[in-house]
Amino acid sequence: MINISKRLQLVASFVPDNSNIIDVGCDHALLSIYLYNNLKHVSITASDINPNPLKIAKENLEKYHLEKKIKLVLKDGLTDLDKNIDTVVIAGMGGILISKILTNTENLKNIKNIILSPNNDFPIVRETIKKIGFKIVKEKLVIDKEKTYLVLKAIRGKNKKLDYYFGILNKTDLEVIYYYTNILNKNTKILKSIPKKYVKRILLLKLENKKIKRFLLTTSK
Ligand SMILES: C[S@@+](CC[C@H](N)C(=O)[O-])C[C@H]1O[C@@H](n2cnc3c(N)ncnc32)[C@H](O)[C@@H]1O
Repeated sequence: MINISKRLQLVASFVPDNSNIIDVGCDHALLSIYLYNNLKHVSITASDINPNPLKIAKENLEKYHLEKKIKLVLKDGLTDLDKNIDTVVIAGMGGILISKILTNTENLKNIKNIILSPNNDFPIVRETIKKIGFKIVKEKLVIDKEKTYLVLKAIRGKNKKLDYYFGILNKTDLEVIYYYTNILNKNTKILKSIPKKYVKRILLLKLENKKIKRFLLTTSK
């Protein structure tokens, strides 16, 4: 049995069975291997833009005797996507890079599911999902080695109202409360020491705190 991080386990739990998956930026391919072992009817392509990670991925596939089951591909993002692929997984990259990968393609027409796990810039990722005609149906935060990651699933459609800052995160999840309380505390600390001349920055921090307080307050109701 393969061991993967808490973050990758959450990503895997968002991937539907009976799907044809591309794991973009697979690196070591541990997620692809885990998916193959834990889902019943899937086909998996593991891709990376760099040859070096793919060498390690190849070794890992051989270690788990999956070299004939998981296809390894060297390529940039979602270029030349096989027609049968219906599920895109992109994990462990910055939000801006994920957004770039999603928008740099005209080839999403066969895609039904998008599962993402950005390391940062969560609002940018949510905005991109909306722009490419998908809607977020599930979101969770995971704290792994003291860092918080977002994991989300999107399908075709439109979120009626989508707050890019909070998405559709569950306000009662401990990780969500922890994440936004940390931002609030950090901002409050900055506000105490920042010179008054930084008017715009002060205003933005205050606005962000107001938004978070409102959000956290409705949590406890
Ligand atoms: C930090 S690793 C993440 C590995 C794995 N997905 C995870 O979540 O643990 C990011 C990987 O994405 C790859 N990458 C970066 N830009 C890419 C792109 N445009 N297309 C495909 N892979 C890319 C890098 O080479 C690297 O191996």
